[in-house]
Amino acid sequence: MNLSDRDQAVVWHPYTQMLTAPAPLPITRAEGVWLYTEDGRRILDGISSWWVNIHGHSHPKLNAALAAQARELEHVMFAGCTHRPAVELAERLIEILPKGLARVFYSDNGSTAVEVALKLAVQYWRNLGQPNRKTFVTLHNAYHGDTVGAMSASEDSVFTRAFSTLTFPVERVHGLDDMERYLRDAGDFVAAVLIEPMLQGAGGMIVRPAEFVAGVRRLCDQYRTLLIADEVLTGFGRTGKMFACEHAGITPDMICLSKGLTAGYLPLGVTAATAAIYDAFLSDDRSKTFFHGHSYTANPLACAVALASLDLFRDEAVLANVLRLERQLRAGFEPLRALGDMRVIGGVAALELFSDRSLTSDKPGYLNQAGPRLAAAFLERGLLLRPLGNVVYFMPPYCITESEASWALEQIAATLRTPLW
Ligand SMILES: Cc1ncc(COP(=O)(O)O)c(C=O)c1O
Repeated sequence: MNLSDRDQAVVWHPYTQMLTAPAPLPITRAEGVWLYTEDGRRILDGISSWWVNIHGHSHPKLNAALAAQARELEHVMFAGCTHRPAVELAERLIEILPKGLARVFYSDNGSTAVEVALKLAVQYWRNLGQPNRKTFVTLHNAYHGDTVGAMSASEDSVFTRAFSTLTFPVERVHGLDDMERYLRDAGDFVAAVLIEPMLQGAGGMIVRPAEFVAGVRRLCDQYRTLLIADEVLTGFGRTGKMFACEHAGITPDMICLSKGLTAGYLPLGVTAATAAIYDAFLSDDRSKTFFHGHSYTANPLACAVALASLDLFRDEAVLANVLRLERQLRAGFEPLRALGDMRVIGGVAALELFSDRSLTSDKPGYLNQAGPRLAAAFLERGLLLRPLGNVVYFMPPYCITESEASWALEQIAATLRTPLW
């Protein structure tokens, strides 16, 4: 039996309707932007393996850092113990994060980085004697992850609806006016405002202006609540700056990081907080402790790869590559404007196909059949993409060369111009 057949007998895949989904791609190795399959195909990873990969697959320097760390220390628990990779990574992150973020709390992935921020916000106010500040203000179309808190903060959608008995209520707003109205009326009950700065990812690749992010910071200051920036997707260069908050020149009270943190090698989450938040947990009263942790907190292998990735940002023109890619994406998507609403930021280009096209005259949103049909058509051409319903997007590793990107853009254009049904 080949790998896909064996898989289909025993494995249950994420976000996959196992009855109708095509057999999974059997990937045997990967290098740069290319994935190689058991049956001899070479496929361009056009979504950076769910947005995590930044320097390319199987990067020699990251491989070496991982192997060296494995020889030294693979893991040790992080309550009562520490190690060089975790300390050094925290030091380096604090150096490059927006000024004012002073403490790094490690967890395992993007969802846990968000859960930690939500829990820290609630307990921060509780520790300060304001336990009524416990609601969260979030944005429509948000996506913050799949654990219960992260789901609650996300848009009420097909992703979360089956779990409505588990999630807690939040206040979802559309924009600044909406947010201000709520904060004016109910600000004393708000623990934090949570946003994906500049780019809402899974909610449909929606780009927001820097003024919006700056406006949210202003409102949080005015109504004295916390601002949490979920930079799980946008962190580490994806929008053309190291962190998306830099577009607006703001510092959030907490920032959530994962995905590009380890350049797509290993799961690791970070929630970084200001000294003011950290200080609110310092007490002789042990009940004010932050009681949260995961077995693999601050895994040394993951931290070592994250450090090697930061070395690449320091030593090579990584951010310049993202800006070069951004120019190429703009030029490549421009001729497709007639087909949909185009959005480009940093290394991300998206086209929300117009609903009057027969292509999308189907269910709206994520369940739109254009998604799987287009994915299959892209794959036939050797390009791995996973449209979000009728939102087609291209988000390759930053190391993609000009000729690889131009080949991928040609495949996207050709596919979108071919009638699908
Ligand atoms: C903005 C944002 N937050 C959180 C998450 C959840 O991250 P993870 O899938 O690692 O749990 C994602 C994942 O796509 C994301 O895009």
